[in-house]
Amino acid sequence: MSTAILEDKEILTKEILQLKEEKNALILAHNYQRAEIQDLADIIGDSLELSRAAAKTNNPIIVFCGVHFMAESASILSPDKIVLLPEITAGCPMADMITVEGPRRTDRKEYRDLLGIVFEFADAFTLRDLKSKYPAAPVVCYVNTSAAVKAESDICCTSSNALKVVESLKEDTVIMVPDRNLSAYVAKRTKKKIITWDGFCHVHQRVSAANINSLRAEHPEAVVIVHPECPLEIQDMADHIASTSGILRLAKEIDKKEFIIGTEEGLGHRLKKENPDKEFYFAYEHMVCPNMKRITLRSLRNALRDMQYVIKVPDDIRVKAKRALDRMLEV
Ligand code: 13P
Ligand code: SF4
Repeated sequence: MSTAILEDKEILTKEILQLKEEKNALILAHNYQRAEIQDLADIIGDSLELSRAAAKTNNPIIVFCGVHFMAESASILSPDKIVLLPEITAGCPMADMITVEGPRRTDRKEYRDLLGIVFEFADAFTLRDLKSKYPAAPVVCYVNTSAAVKAESDICCTSSNALKVVESLKEDTVIMVPDRNLSAYVAKRTKKKIITWDGFCHVHQRVSAANINSLRAEHPEAVVIVHPECPLEIQDMADHIASTSGILRLAKEIDKKEFIIGTEEGLGHRLKKENPDKEFYFAYEHMVCPNMKRITLRSLRNALRDMQYVIKVPDDIRVKAKRALDRMLEV
């Protein structure tokens, strides 16, 4: 790194720490954030851990270093707090794949053929349309959805509690949106019938069997751990399937030196920091979520200095969405 960049980094870090102190702000960072952002955060975690932290903080300001739906969840759970998202364009393409009423943005029929054996695909164009087709089925929505979709759902789930959430419901048929891969993960482990949306995460969807096979050939002793947003075929090849923080826990607990990881490479920062004697190989080169990487030290500094960008969910949506999030937190 050049001296100018290093100086810049030092100055920005100092400013951030000063502003954070002055404003009594809490900095939350998702496990995929840039290393320098993680190093400055008060709490680093997966979606569930960060939702819990946002729900119980006393700080008047929460700076959410993650993507839009995460900041929205913080605003829903802590409506009296000011929630800032340092980059307003940091969204989640998977969350955008389902809307309550608007047009649907994906329709990958070939995938339906491939996975049709595991569960039934939703034949609908909006969430409301889908609900009208299965009026008795409760809707479980992944936290990777807009506040409006959460408001139309019965209960939320994250990658670490999806199965538990589905099993907590009394109905035998359950709608899961928007991630077909997380739905497949649950469908394989429950007796309930799962009706799924066919959304996906472009970062995890790209992991191929060839990626895993060639890494396994190079590192035959390595343990394969993948995120449930990976395709079912990849889940089936893995030794373990877990959320980002679940992967961190497993990497620490398992007494092995090498791991093949099927998730965004930002997790590598904590994996290496917390396990300096172990080696981690990501499923493919540059396994990066560009949205997660939008937040930089400069945008974090600007967020604290200029109080931007405020994420506030309108009350009519917030109250309904909070019911779904609270119900999940109870589970
Ligand atoms: P986690 O809840 O496992 O951190 O996942 C969030 C996410 O967006 C994964 O792509
Ligand atoms: Fe969304 Fe995938 Fe990025 Fe997670 S990694 S925020 S699911 S696009």
